[in-house]
Amino acid sequence: MPQRFIGLMSGTSMDAVDAALVQINAQGQVKLEACYSLAIPQNLRSRLLKISHTDNWIADELAALDVAFSEHCTQAVKALLVKARLTPESITAIASHGQTVRHKPNFKTPYTCQIGDPARLAVSTGIDVIYDFRRKDIAAGGQGAPLVPAFHKQVFAHQKQSIAVINLGGIANVTWLGPEGQVLGFDTGPANTLLDQWVQQHYPNESFDRDAQFARAGEVQTPLLEQLLQHPFFSKTAPKSTGREEFNLDWLKPLLEKKQLSFEDVQRTLVEVTAITVKDALKTLPQQPDAIYFCGGGTNNPLLMERFAELLTPAKCNTTENLGVDPQWVEAMAFAWLGWCYEHKKPGNQPEVTGASHPVVLGSKVLHQ
Ligand SMILES: Nc1ncnc2c1ncn2[C@@H]1O[C@H](COP(=O)(O)OP(=O)(O)O)[C@@H](O)[C@H]1O
Ligand SMILES: [Mg+2]
Repeated sequence: MPQRFIGLMSGTSMDAVDAALVQINAQGQVKLEACYSLAIPQNLRSRLLKISHTDNWIADELAALDVAFSEHCTQAVKALLVKARLTPESITAIASHGQTVRHKPNFKTPYTCQIGDPARLAVSTGIDVIYDFRRKDIAAGGQGAPLVPAFHKQVFAHQKQSIAVINLGGIANVTWLGPEGQVLGFDTGPANTLLDQWVQQHYPNESFDRDAQFARAGEVQTPLLEQLLQHPFFSKTAPKSTGREEFNLDWLKPLLEKKQLSFEDVQRTLVEVTAITVKDALKTLPQQPDAIYFCGGGTNNPLLMERFAELLTPAKCNTTENLGVDPQWVEAMAFAWLGWCYEHKKPGNQPEVTGASHPVVLGSKVLHQ
């Protein structure tokens, strides 16, 4: 009998909690049954952003956000169940990623922190919750990220072809699946996070550059582009992962001084940074992919997708839709599947990707009773 899991994902962009209800059979094959995305209201997002950027965490505010984010997840789950016409009893478990407020795998005491109280989520939904997927990989010496390559392998591994799957979330990450079952993966750098932050600073009521309207009105500024590409993360070798800690406006602003650039020119140049760093990252793979499949919110950015098509030719650029999985739901489905892995005591990390010393079962579980 297939089991049902709900995967909950909210990435670096902090745009929404994406909830995917999937059926997973005994072989680990995943079928999307229903999905629902609950936008994170501006007020909650600015509080999450503030705590992500404050050097000294304020314990009370962190605890309040732990609860507030958990309640937001509860709303997403309840709306999803209504949409799917299912009751909590029919769900084996929720697999909740939580909201990352810090990711410092290279700190002197490496750590990653996701919030969204799982106990509260379990009690308020009546469903067991599997959570805290990243810490065990860090405990085993890994980066705790990216975790989706194992899922990409499960659903996309192609026969005799080498393919790359590129997730364009706040941060971009690539998974390479080789023709003999090899898997590699790492973060390539910012996808949407800088694009969003730059827009939010100029237009506090906008959360992103819809359809790249601002970027299209600007021109790539080569001196700025070259400076941005100097960021040491880009030339680091894998395993590597990153987040808002490294790619934020505090990094960008000093590079804009004395340059008198328009808002649109900076936006256009940031799109180019994403396009070029993904292209350069692909060059480091052991074998060039025959086909490239994109997923994540960045697939809705037409300018970014045009640039990929131009820069990555002759490799074919598609979205994961061509492999039968809606690009908006890949990550939430991946965490649902990691929940299934936990339930069946199967390792969810890919040591070649994260740098962990060995495979480990990811997550912890809180029962709803
Ligand atoms: N129509 C669009 N035009 C441009 N960018 C878009 C569009 N729709 C979504 N995005 C981008 O996708 C982001 C969300 O992507 P997502 O995959 O959810 O990221 P994360 O995993 O970090 O939450 C938004 O913040 C925005 O930058
Ligand atoms: Mg998102």
